[in-house]
Amino acid sequence: MGATKRRLICVGYVSAIAFGIGCAPASQSGAPMTPGIKSEVFANLPNGSPTGQLVELFTLTNAHGIEVKFTNYGGIITSIKTPDRAGHFADIVLGYDNLAGYLASSPYFGAIVGRYANRIARGHFTLDGATYTLAVNNGPNSLHGGLRGFDKVVWTARPFQDREGQGVTLDYLSLDGEEGYPGNLRVAVTYTLTPDDRLIVDYLATTDKATPINLSQHTYWNLAGDASRDILGHVLTINAGAMTPVDSTLIPSGEIVPTAGTPFDFWTPTAIGARIDQKGNVQLQYGNGYDHNFVLNTRGSSVEEPRFAARVTEPTTGRTLEIYTTEPGLQFYSGNFLDGSITGKGGRVYGFRYGLALETQHYPDSPNHPNFPTTVLRPGEKYRSRTVFKFGVTQ
Ligand code: GLA
Repeated sequence: MGATKRRLICVGYVSAIAFGIGCAPASQSGAPMTPGIKSEVFANLPNGSPTGQLVELFTLTNAHGIEVKFTNYGGIITSIKTPDRAGHFADIVLGYDNLAGYLASSPYFGAIVGRYANRIARGHFTLDGATYTLAVNNGPNSLHGGLRGFDKVVWTARPFQDREGQGVTLDYLSLDGEEGYPGNLRVAVTYTLTPDDRLIVDYLATTDKATPINLSQHTYWNLAGDASRDILGHVLTINAGAMTPVDSTLIPSGEIVPTAGTPFDFWTPTAIGARIDQKGNVQLQYGNGYDHNFVLNTRGSSVEEPRFAARVTEPTTGRTLEIYTTEPGLQFYSGNFLDGSITGKGGRVYGFRYGLALETQHYPDSPNHPNFPTTVLRPGEKYRSRTVFKFGVTQ
């Protein structure tokens, strides 16, 4: 480890106290900050508890004061603070103040979802002639990896500094047969915060038996800050001209239909609330709003050059979020299952559509749709995927 690397990384099991040069917490006054990585204990759960391990909370800070917090439980991003156009920082993601909240119940707030993000119809798929059965945990379907998906396991954390920024790699070994999926799957998810206000999420996986795999990040965004109002005024652009329509249980029919002239056309910037309650649109009825996969124009992308997927602008604060990805799909979920029954960080009640998710991924239920891009990973192959979240402001 070089001198620079040593100077910029400081990680320790300390309670909310940063130590070492370069680990001062962001003052959030707009003054340049020293970038750093901090770790603290998020919870130390007794053996026999759902995790039985030490759960840490990491804080990445860049020179502009952008601050990203996440835990190695579920890879959950618990907080992201960015400035509005007046330079005031606020938290732009939904979640809980402590691990107990996530353990009690969470609609995948901020989590890494897998082994298969999104739905697999009736919890069945066939691969190389064998039929596999998964837990059904969402109506008749399997959602986000089953009963104990990647959002509910403890990952091993490795902090680092490299040429792109500073970050932490989270490793997890998903055993053969876990949640019904075949093969020992080694997964690494890396969060890197860059000096130019990008949060890079890298996914890497290998397997010893063929398996479907679809990994995503399930952050709920509310760029107004501190979930102060619903997300219907957020203006969304999606780089897609088609989507995959679903049945009433949100499983794709297999068709790929153009979005032009429908409430799913976000080719030009449009307020999320503008058409969300349009009468007579059966797709919006099934989702109770948006909960659909968009077919991105990301073909030809690479980890070195992920393509533009979506942009969100919040007009009152000026905050913007841009997403770039190597994935072919984007699940846009407008928080339709939020209903005021969850009280999150700082006592905020998360009402109907108070957060939106933009989950870069392969299409839902791909193992049962041969016409969709394949999600099968085979021994000897490397699963590599990158999604970039770029934070900004507009006047
Ligand atoms: C995904 C799904 C939604 C919902 C959320 C979690 O976004 O597509 O239907 O299940 O996860 O509540």
